[in-house]
Amino acid sequence: MTDLRPPLAATAWAPVNIALIKHWGYRSAVREGGDTDLPARPSLSLTLEHGSTTTVTWREQSDHQILLNDTALVRTDGEKAAASFAFLEAVRQAAGLGALRASVQAVSEVPLSAGFASSAAGGAALTVAALDSAGLGDATVQGRLHWCRQLGSVSALRSLRGGVVRLDVNPEAPALTLGGVETALDLTVLGCLVQGKKKAVSSSAGHAQVTTSPYWAQFERDARARLEQIVAGLEAGDLARVGAIAEADALAMHAVMLTSHPPIVYATDATWRVWHEVIAWRRSGGDSPRGYCTLDAGPNPHVFCQRRDADELARRLEAHPDVQKVFRSAVAPTGARSVPSSAPAERRAW
Ligand code: PMV
Repeated sequence: MTDLRPPLAATAWAPVNIALIKHWGYRSAVREGGDTDLPARPSLSLTLEHGSTTTVTWREQSDHQILLNDTALVRTDGEKAAASFAFLEAVRQAAGLGALRASVQAVSEVPLSAGFASSAAGGAALTVAALDSAGLGDATVQGRLHWCRQLGSVSALRSLRGGVVRLDVNPEAPALTLGGVETALDLTVLGCLVQGKKKAVSSSAGHAQVTTSPYWAQFERDARARLEQIVAGLEAGDLARVGAIAEADALAMHAVMLTSHPPIVYATDATWRVWHEVIAWRRSGGDSPRGYCTLDAGPNPHVFCQRRDADELARRLEAHPDVQKVFRSAVAPTGARSVPSSAPAERRAW
């Protein structure tokens, strides 16, 4: 007789990504009705080589359990935690798993809640592991995207794919699509740790108050044109163009954050000191390395450059008094994927 029960345990790995065109804010904050959890802007990101490993096992137990880096998560730990529990419950019901509940073990290779996109990797890995273990595994990116949307992290959707990823928001179905972007650039990303502590305001809280900024409407309007311009720059191998658009978009997002009510201040003086140096180096000509910065919802800037400049730029950043550590990565070709369940979810240092 064929065993129709799902495997009941599965492990997945997913990469972090860093956005060059940022998602910030949902359509529900701006327009009435319709699909309320749609992002207000399209976004574009670089997939990195490091990420998160998640194992999901279905057992007879009273409730779902989530362990993140050995610490138990509870529903009241924030919007993303609450969404993760609701997602597991939706998977249980869709798969008809009766009395079984999920045990989740997630291990992040990057610092948590510090602007290193740990939740993007965690969300994408959880999606793949939960679906596989419950027998709902849909290997298509679009199928996974449908489920992953329930986790309340738009950056997690982009971690379902590899390479340079664009997330488009469409007027017709499917409302969200993930696509790949070709680039003639061989990029290296240098994540600079200037402060490791957990950020005070979650990105979910920030998304909810975007319309309180007088600059929000312009930021939303600029997204589509910036996305097309950066895609053209990537295809043409024009780092100066890509860098200028990415810096403009990150700074505009932080202008919205700073002018939201109440204001959200993620950058520190160390953030700006590093950013100023990167600009000074690229302007000094000669053999000086040409890098560009971007910044997520946290104080730690990511600097990107052509691979030929990466050794020198990394050396200078590592010597910078504000930088505690540099996390170096090429653009990784693959997104979230199933890995053998026997592989221990061990923490790898970046
Ligand atoms: O992962 P989310 O949906 O909470 O939002 C991520 C927001 C930023 O990291 C600041 C920008 C981005 O597009 O990744």
